[in-house]
Amino acid sequence: MVKRGLPVRTVGITGTGMYVPDRILTNTHLEQLVETSDEWIRTRTGIRERHIASPGTPASDIAAPAVRAALKSRGLSPEEIDHIIVTTVTPDMFFPSTACVLQDKVGARNAWGYDLSAACSGFIFGLAAGYQAVASGSVRNVAVVGVDVLTTLVEWTNRNQCILFGDGCGTVILEPMDEGEGIIDFILHADGSGAQYLHMLGGGSLNPPSHATLDKGLHYLYQDGKAVFKIASTSMADVTMEVVERNGFAIGDISLIIPHQANLRIIEAVAKRLGIEREQVLVNIDRYGNTTAATIPIGLHEAALSGRIKKGDLVVLTSFGGGYTWGAILLRWELDTPQG
Ligand code: COA
Repeated sequence: MVKRGLPVRTVGITGTGMYVPDRILTNTHLEQLVETSDEWIRTRTGIRERHIASPGTPASDIAAPAVRAALKSRGLSPEEIDHIIVTTVTPDMFFPSTACVLQDKVGARNAWGYDLSAACSGFIFGLAAGYQAVASGSVRNVAVVGVDVLTTLVEWTNRNQCILFGDGCGTVILEPMDEGEGIIDFILHADGSGAQYLHMLGGGSLNPPSHATLDKGLHYLYQDGKAVFKIASTSMADVTMEVVERNGFAIGDISLIIPHQANLRIIEAVAKRLGIEREQVLVNIDRYGNTTAATIPIGLHEAALSGRIKKGDLVVLTSFGGGYTWGAILLRWELDTPQG
């Protein structure tokens, strides 16, 4: 098979973990907050319920159990982790990084790390960064964490957005692989001109927090739902096809595509554009909503645990999000399905 210009060591996923808060917000609950209906939300988005954090819960509190679970699944102690990459747009605070907070919280005292911001594409950007760190030999292993508490940015009176999001975390451990292929290739993209359609303007150096920024609601997420919908489906489908074909495979060779979970209709449009059946694409948006950087690692963890992906399977992870940012990662799954 063709190996494209990536560095030397073969790198793959050797552990996975996830965590979502216990609190569940159903569509029926949302009917009491805004003028909407369970039927509208299910048919327009595919979401039935989402897990949301209690007020005051920082991202690191949601990430810590997922990191511990991933370490446990691999049989590593926190001290054995070299590197932590936290992908999030809802960090605990501007600084220190959530990676540092998390390092302390889980007792990974030999790890260094940083936060990475690529919105809904955060996890695949982080996976690519983690891949490069391990492939280059500069670290032995990385915990790549996709975590968001996006419900902290939601305007709960806006029915166009409050129905979409949930909170959660997924984590994977990356290590060199002795055999098999692990991560085969990735393609990442950014287009900063898309920022106008998906952003949060307040709180940073452009609009430091003030009474005026609060009054204008600049601390809420803004999205042009229709614009994002259209470009997300075509971009994820096209970049998936590109990464598959440039490595000498056909789309039918892929056992499972795990797309970012933003809207069931976007996922269905991706499947249609790729000419594949719905069964070849993972869907769990019905239970979690859009958990931003966490959708893909949560999907991957659940697919591995349930045996939906098995050792030797080819898998594509693909995402689209704020930035705009988007991309796809092709990998061969190397873990046995957990027993019992
Ligand atoms: N309940 C009931 N009606 C709603 C509603 C809700 N929660 N939200 C919007 N509507 C109404 C609109 O007001 C509109 O009514 P009108 O025709 O009287 O003006 C009608 O439903 C259709 O709205 P529209 O915006 O065309 O719906 P849509 O099918 O585009 O769905 C989104 C809206 C937001 C669900 C959809 O565009 C989407 O998911 N976009 C992607 C967003 C995204 O992925 N963001 C994260 C980035 S990764």
